[in-house]
Amino acid sequence: MNHAHVLIVDDESLVRWSLKERLGEQGYDVTEAETAADALGQPFADLDLVLLDFKLPDGDGLDVLRQIKERSPETLVIMMTGYSTVESAVEAMKRGAYHYINKPFNLDEVMLLVEKALETSQLRREVRALRSGQGKDFGLASIIGESEAMRTAKALMARVAASPASTVLLTGETGTGKDLAAKAIHFNSGRAGRQFVNITCSALPEQLLESELFGHERGAFTDARQQKRGLFETADGGTLFLDEIGEMTLPLQSKLLRFLEDKAFKRVGGLSDVRVDVRVIAATNRDLEAEVTAGRFREDLFYRLQVMPIPLPPLRARHGDVPLLAAFFIDRFNAEFRKKVRGLSPAAIQMLEHYAWPGNVRELRNAIERAMLLADGDRLEASDLTTLTRTVSPVQFKLPPEGVNIEDVERQLLAQALERSKGNQTHAAQLLGINRDQVRYRIEKFGLPKP
Ligand SMILES: Nc1ncnc2c1ncn2[C@@H]1O[C@H](COP(=O)(O)OP(=O)(O)OP(=O)(O)O)[C@@H](O)[C@H]1O
Ligand SMILES: [Mg+2]
Repeated sequence: MNHAHVLIVDDESLVRWSLKERLGEQGYDVTEAETAADALGQPFADLDLVLLDFKLPDGDGLDVLRQIKERSPETLVIMMTGYSTVESAVEAMKRGAYHYINKPFNLDEVMLLVEKALETSQLRREVRALRSGQGKDFGLASIIGESEAMRTAKALMARVAASPASTVLLTGETGTGKDLAAKAIHFNSGRAGRQFVNITCSALPEQLLESELFGHERGAFTDARQQKRGLFETADGGTLFLDEIGEMTLPLQSKLLRFLEDKAFKRVGGLSDVRVDVRVIAATNRDLEAEVTAGRFREDLFYRLQVMPIPLPPLRARHGDVPLLAAFFIDRFNAEFRKKVRGLSPAAIQMLEHYAWPGNVRELRNAIERAMLLADGDRLEASDLTTLTRTVSPVQFKLPPEGVNIEDVERQLLAQALERSKGNQTHAAQLLGINRDQVRYRIEKFGLPKP
């Protein structure tokens, strides 16, 4: 399982591109940054590895290394250098780099090094999880929210956790806490002592996903030199979290349905049934019912998952939770960044309360994280909430005397946002204060070229 998150920091796009291609092929989650500022603006909490150039347009790689290590001591850093000097390499290792490589590099060697580094990081995480009492961080209490909708959701999670096996469907927009909920259910259940296995269905092509999930027999296909156990077997006794279930292809949906009904499946290329005891938690930010109507999702599987649906409400539908969440993240980042921020200024609170939160809790967390990095004083000011200003600033658009065609304005703004974000729909969505599905919908509606 390769769901490690890797950040590539280099100003040469070719270097970023070739690394990203290769890491992406291996199933890693990859983020890119061009500059030191770009790199330091990233949330570091779930970053496993950074590939970091020594020389950046706006600063020194060594300095970035120091800051990464300060904020997230467990994140591993491999330095990349074009003109290696022994001194700089030694200095990098002293400051906590895991390793360094010379440019131009051999991609195979880089990949080996990355794999080794990530094994180390995985081990460290496991040790830490054991020390802190496995899953202690995933109690239901760590899910913040006192709104009616959140209380209902948490009560459902508690009930499901206590029941031995039922399948769960978590629905909700991006950033509403589906991952968090899945972990909370697992770690509060009798399955907590066994594995929690997590896979994003959209991350792999169909055949790879099938063999990843169900395993394969030796000789099942050209590369299958040995028998391999799939994630269903790894998760025996525990929980399998199938994220973005809406992206699963129809044949795999059938295979999943068979498992949910019979608790059995066949490995790819296998003849006999394998039986395991696994709770499946599925998640999606799509409207599965609409997918059923469109013929992309099996109706029988939909009803099987609908037995225990837990919807997670968008943040804009529970504005009362915003101050609670903000306080929670301030505490967390105080500890992480060793700061002593005590709260928000009235103007900043007002800003949070009037914002639409298209990225939901994740966006709020990121906004607070960034604000905490910027803040000098002991409270966060409206001016520290840089990611939100655009959308909450007072109306700047003046209706011209002759009026406008609002659809036309919308189409033009969308086109401009896509251009500015270089076709990145998530980024375009942020610029417009809507979510990515809404961007997709409008691209279709206006017949804009698909990025
Ligand atoms: N109620 C909550 N209380 C505390 N933290 C939360 C809550 N909801 C979400 N978060 C935090 O917000 C971030 C995003 O949540 P998560 O990854 O669970 O969202 P998601 O629904 O899985 O999003 P996506 O559909 O994009 O995968 C995480 O850092 C998570 O810990
Ligand atoms: Mg998720």
